[in-house]
Amino acid sequence: MPGFAQRLSRIQPSATVAVSQRAKELKSQGVDVLSFSVGEPDFEPPEHILEAAVTATRKGCSKYTIARGIPALRDAICADSKARRGGHGHDPSEVVVSVGAKHSLFNLATCLFEEGDEVVIPAPYWVSYPAQVELMGAKAVIVDSSEENGFCVEPAALEKAITEKTKAVVLCSPSNPTGAAYDAQALTEIAEVLLRHDVWVITDEIYARLTYGDFVQKSLLEVAPDLRRRLIIVDGVSKTFAMTGWRIGWILAPEPVAKACDKIQSQSTTNPAAVAQYAAIAALTGPQEPMEAMRQAFQGRRTQIVDGLNGIEGISCRVPEGAFYAFPNVGGLIGKTTPSGTVLTDDLQVAQWLLEDARCALVPGSAFGAPGYLRMSYATANATIDQGLARIATAVASLT
Ligand SMILES: Cc1ncc(COP(=O)(O)O)c(C=O)c1O
Repeated sequence: MPGFAQRLSRIQPSATVAVSQRAKELKSQGVDVLSFSVGEPDFEPPEHILEAAVTATRKGCSKYTIARGIPALRDAICADSKARRGGHGHDPSEVVVSVGAKHSLFNLATCLFEEGDEVVIPAPYWVSYPAQVELMGAKAVIVDSSEENGFCVEPAALEKAITEKTKAVVLCSPSNPTGAAYDAQALTEIAEVLLRHDVWVITDEIYARLTYGDFVQKSLLEVAPDLRRRLIIVDGVSKTFAMTGWRIGWILAPEPVAKACDKIQSQSTTNPAAVAQYAAIAALTGPQEPMEAMRQAFQGRRTQIVDGLNGIEGISCRVPEGAFYAFPNVGGLIGKTTPSGTVLTDDLQVAQWLLEDARCALVPGSAFGAPGYLRMSYATANATIDQGLARIATAVASLT
């Protein structure tokens, strides 16, 4: 058989996708598995969004569109961003709509990174950031953050990681996998470092509308408008509007970056699905109450899951500010022995054992550069969360 490109060996398949596929596989074999592995809301998109898609289909939106997205959607994105980011506006020429935010990030990686470049990524990180960087032949430089510091990277650690080879820094707030978010003060301190170095700053704000309690969400753009010349905002409809399958994400970026991503996209996917673009316009411009109801449901589940996890001996979980992930510390389970005699030596084994024994699918923290933790998505029904917590508690009680 002829060979494959060498770049393929630089990456692994997505660990989060792998765990959720394994859970689906077990379910299809009749095993009663509860999945806490997947990062997508369990809700359906609100009716007006579905209606807009049906109308668009009937009105003949079956042709190619402009590769970077129809003007009406880019206008809606600009208006939405300006309203949510302290009045700092973008022009539609600075927007590229892609096939989900993951595709937006892939376009960016293709345009910006190559061999010899370093890209600074705080850990715990979303699995695709380092994978995409490495696929392009660049080096992902991981900077650890600590639970004690709320999983926010320390400005001094960030400063230390930036060298003359650094091409970009990637931030994600609220974060997948930790749910942690930077408040205005923490963002300001990070921005002070970023302002000192001539690097691209990619801020993934896809969970920005999913924050809870009295946490006040701020965009990096609002806190540091002087960064705008180098600032690339990644956003999309997947999480906020329960539209993961519609595949619409975008960047708001300096015009040369938008142009570059448009060029790459015009030679790869062309436009994201036309009908999904019309649905996204309805999402951004239509009534927002249904989204507020989803946010409130997530907020309730956050308390349910965090309280439940903290009630299990050997597990502790900080209260995440946003997104829909709990990131429990399972250090207290490591070294314990399961009823079948296996010693749990790391988070990978804990996740494997929970899948087999408790029939709960969680993603090991090692997949996100954070050994000793698990990621548990609470984008699932309250009853499933209760059942899962009970199963985990029973399994943990059986350890010696
Ligand atoms: C932090 C983060 N960024 C981007 C994405 C990609 O979103 P999309 O489904 O729009 O490609 C995800 C999805 O899990 C995510 O968690």
